[in-house]
Amino acid sequence: MAIILGIESSCDETAVALVTTQRQIIAERIASQTEAHAPYGGVVPEIAARAHAEKLAPMIADVMAEAGLDLADLDAVAATAGPGLIGGVMVGLVSAKALAMAADKPLLAINHLEGHALSPRLADARLQFPYALLLVSGGHCQILQVDGVGKYRRLATTIDDALGEAFDKSAKILGLGYPGGPALEQLALTGDARAVPLPRPLLKSKEPHFSFAGLKSAVLRAKESGEHQNADIAASFQHAAIDCLLDRLALSLDRCASLPALVVAGGVAANTAIRSALEGFAAKRNMAFSAPPMALCTDNAAMIAWAGAERFITGQSDPLDVSARPRWPLDPDAEPVRGAGAKA
Ligand code: KG4
Ligand code: ZN
Repeated sequence: MAIILGIESSCDETAVALVTTQRQIIAERIASQTEAHAPYGGVVPEIAARAHAEKLAPMIADVMAEAGLDLADLDAVAATAGPGLIGGVMVGLVSAKALAMAADKPLLAINHLEGHALSPRLADARLQFPYALLLVSGGHCQILQVDGVGKYRRLATTIDDALGEAFDKSAKILGLGYPGGPALEQLALTGDARAVPLPRPLLKSKEPHFSFAGLKSAVLRAKESGEHQNADIAASFQHAAIDCLLDRLALSLDRCASLPALVVAGGVAANTAIRSALEGFAAKRNMAFSAPPMALCTDNAAMIAWAGAERFITGQSDPLDVSARPRWPLDPDAEPVRGAGAKA
């Protein structure tokens, strides 16, 4: 059994975790910066980087102390090396390099998206490759075929906003604050999903890509019309988003070899309505369904340590001069899509 220290600092969560190759989370810490960014309605990169620089080292000391471990007890050090806000990524990656050097242990520079992509395997030991992955977060909205560690084939992506971004922007329009995804989901529980006619962008289109910018604009128009309750707009938005997800997933899966399991990961995977819609969809297609527990959906360090563990087991490591990458697609061979905001 090997013990991996994982560090996550690519957005607005500073997180540290110790995870074993036996899927045990020995200790973890997570510090959210939500309050620091809330007055600005979104993440401010400079504030994020400064907060990571202040919080990270004491949090590493804390998890090591809680686990009763010394640097010498670690088998490898893993940190997010991208994609993300580059100042924050550099804080985490440079810290990991220093620790790996001091401990004389391998460094693993982790793609944050690979952390999300493999997170269901940390929670579910039965989940084998290959599987279909719906990766839905604040910065990404993709369908991938996961064939193994480091083997990803992108089947679909968004041509504009990510789904989490659409949740956050719609929540802001409804006055729900930032980050809005969880608040919008709560409000939707009390609304009528059929009350507000909203578009389903790209539904039935021939390429399986996503688009959410038009849906968000329709939410703005519905709000400004003054004709609808916020809860009805929230419920109708969520319903429209789910229709888009299922339609695009069906097309993506029809276009590739049959896959035994459907997996959802990323922050939006914490949404209960989306999880249950996906579970029903998978059941109809005779696919197993797997979703990580809520705490592993939104950004965390256990998933980074676990991606490190998966790569460590296969004998991989990275040199100490590895670069931090603001953009880092999981499938470098995927064609850029027209209209795509350059997200990865
Ligand atoms: O994976 P994550 O923590 O950070 C990124 O890598 O982007 O995802 C954060 C995103 C935010 O847009 C947030 O609003 C969304 O996930 N999110 C949700 C829910 N919980 C988090 N969206 C919808 N429903 C939720 N319950
Ligand atoms: Zn993330």
